[in-house]
Amino acid sequence: MNMDGYRFAHWYDLLWDRSDSVQPELALLEPLAQDAHHVLEVGAGTGRLALALAEGGVKVTCIEPSDAMRTVFLAKLAQRPHLFPRITLMPGSTAPTDLIESVGLAYMAGVIHHLLTTEELDALLAEVQRVLLPDGRLVIDSVAARPATSPLPQTVAGTVRIGAFEYRTTMWQELLAPPIHRWTFCYEIVREKTVIERNEEVSIGREWLREELERALERRGFAVESVHGGYEGQPVVEETSSLVVVARPVGEHGAP
Ligand SMILES: C[S@@+](CC[C@H](N)C(=O)[O-])C[C@H]1O[C@@H](n2cnc3c(N)ncnc32)[C@H](O)[C@@H]1O
Repeated sequence: MNMDGYRFAHWYDLLWDRSDSVQPELALLEPLAQDAHHVLEVGAGTGRLALALAEGGVKVTCIEPSDAMRTVFLAKLAQRPHLFPRITLMPGSTAPTDLIESVGLAYMAGVIHHLLTTEELDALLAEVQRVLLPDGRLVIDSVAARPATSPLPQTVAGTVRIGAFEYRTTMWQELLAPPIHRWTFCYEIVREKTVIERNEEVSIGREWLREELERALERRGFAVESVHGGYEGQPVVEETSSLVVVARPVGEHGAP
């Protein structure tokens, strides 16, 4: 199991759960979720996507290993009691062992790079397959189109002004032993060009190439149905670096 890496969960939504930021993901996930009625999100984080889907009437079961992320998720959920009957939030990581009901859609958004070994990926796919209906779909994003060959220099991930302070997040990536890399996120609170608080958080990740994922899916009884250059169905072109893969169960686990 990977280290937490989300101690700064309270900053996460400043960058990623703004009103326009879930739209691309929902373009693909919402229609699949509406058809599915009941959905599994693995690594649901602060509930960014799960809450949006639940607002549309879908039942969402969420698995989230980070205490910090679940804390933010629950704080948001507390403001929306009308969603209580539709959201289940389970602590945990790869194994949704308590999940009884089957789902028509399972998805992992921004999660696969936390799985460091083939065994972890296989175990997670096996669990998903166990709960996915034969005509269900599995969506996985952040799949690498090609191996990274150079480190990512420090980049501003986002800046938000709240009152007199600017909340600034930067990040960079070092290649350790490819495909293993080290991410550093730096969280700064800035007032009039003076940094008044600075924290860094480091986590280890793994790049999963399309071919590796496709092999793992095949081992676990899935077939790739489509591969996109983004959630809005962008085609995969030369410049595409990150892919969204849609798979379905086949063989004894799939629809006849
Ligand atoms: C980048 S966040 C994405 C959160 C959410 N899916 C979203 O799109 O906003 C990745 C999440 O995956 C979770 N995670 C890490 N390792 C995991 C694992 N082995 N199984 C399930 N979730 C995991 C992290 O705790 C974190 O909340």
